[in-house]
Amino acid sequence: MEENGAASQTTSASASLAANMSAGSLAGSAARQKESKIIVSGGQPLKGSITVSGAKNAVLPIIAAALLSDSPCRITDVPRLADVEVICQVLTRLGAKTLRREQFLEVDASGLAFAEASDEVVRKMRASILVMGPLLARLGRAKISLPGGCAIGTRPIDLHLKGFEAMGASIRKERGFVLAETKALRGARIYLDFPSVGATENLMMAAAAARGTTVLENAAEEPEIVDLANFINAMGGRIRGAGTKVIKIEGTRRLVGCEHQVIPDRIEAGSYLVAAAITGGELRLENVITDHLKPVIAKLAEVGCEIHEAENHMWIRNKKAPQAVDIKTLPYPGFPTDMQAQFMALLTRAQGASVITETVFENRFMHAEELRRMGADIRINGRSAVVEGPARLQGAAVKASDLRAGAALVITGLAAEGVTEIGNSHFIDRGYDDLVGKLRRAGAEISRRDD
Ligand code: EPZ
Repeated sequence: MEENGAASQTTSASASLAANMSAGSLAGSAARQKESKIIVSGGQPLKGSITVSGAKNAVLPIIAAALLSDSPCRITDVPRLADVEVICQVLTRLGAKTLRREQFLEVDASGLAFAEASDEVVRKMRASILVMGPLLARLGRAKISLPGGCAIGTRPIDLHLKGFEAMGASIRKERGFVLAETKALRGARIYLDFPSVGATENLMMAAAAARGTTVLENAAEEPEIVDLANFINAMGGRIRGAGTKVIKIEGTRRLVGCEHQVIPDRIEAGSYLVAAAITGGELRLENVITDHLKPVIAKLAEVGCEIHEAENHMWIRNKKAPQAVDIKTLPYPGFPTDMQAQFMALLTRAQGASVITETVFENRFMHAEELRRMGADIRINGRSAVVEGPARLQGAAVKASDLRAGAALVITGLAAEGVTEIGNSHFIDRGYDDLVGKLRRAGAEISRRDD
């Protein structure tokens, strides 16, 4: 099996990004990194079938949680994403080993030796903060670069740190790092001021190996939390209530390696459903858990789409002009913030005015400016956006500001007249496994160009 060191054999784009990032010269990578663009020629209705990959936001915490055991874990349905490469690099720097094969990823943390994940690669991906809980649990120490903010918001980690303190860790911030230390983590009752996904995950991992019982209240309820809890329970953990607001974790002395299949990515699936809707297409999705997509399916039905749900696949068709609907993003089971940009793209083509309210992040309308360049009529007022439609969309040169904005620009390009060039497409490679290939096989005129 190939050792996953600095780079790996994943798709060219994510490998080149991973290679750049692991070259240790991340500071200059923005300049030197090849500018990869996605080119879309609009007007083709999607048709056929797309198979959804494993969930990015489940596999990242699961890979971090493998640090809790000193015996190997084997994870299947791991998507080929730049972010997966990055978290594997972080684990490698901590002394763990990650082996990537076609069918699975193996993580062996028996050699875990370092408690510092403090270089540029951490700052590049906020999810790196998820190694903090496992490091505290295994080594009693964690020194992590404070994750930088990003396009969608400041994204603090105060809820993570407050929870670790409640479990007996001392926290210090110095020169851009956060240092946490503890003689031994102990169970605690922790109320989260906001149902933060990352804080719920980090604290659940730390609590799994703490002495005594931890109760997380006002916890996040996302399906990815449930998947992480199932993984930790397969290691011998005792977590109950994941997927509800109250999660009870009994600490266990020893967690052992296990096998786990990652749940399908509900946001990737939702993105393709919207792509089918905006192009007036007819698409079958394989490998979906439709229960995880309820708010997205409900809104697509409101827009006028026909949707058929089955056990592990679903089908969507949209032969009518989309109708305007209002969207308000909320923590799960509300409408997901990670689908907001993609839905804004669809609503630019809807008959009438739609109001989109973003309640989770403070600055997640960066894509609106780029959609305007393609002819969309969008007015932003604080956390609300009013989208007037139907706009006549025209291809243009646009830039992604984050991975979901990038997906929204691809979706808009699919419905625009003429050619759209999406720059900063490395953002898309962070969260979409072979987006270009999957859309092309479903009838889109789409390609990638590395300038
Ligand atoms: C996870 O980010 C996802 N990332 C995000 O997906 C997703 O948008 C987000 O959850 C919300 O669903 C991963 O799972 C890797 P949060 P996370 O902590 O954990 C505030 C994508 O597109 N907050 O639930 O960082 C925070 O500022 C990405 O795949 C605090 O104030 O999200 C934000 O406003 C983007 N203090 C809100 O909570 C804290 O300590 C939600 O953040 C933590 C969070």
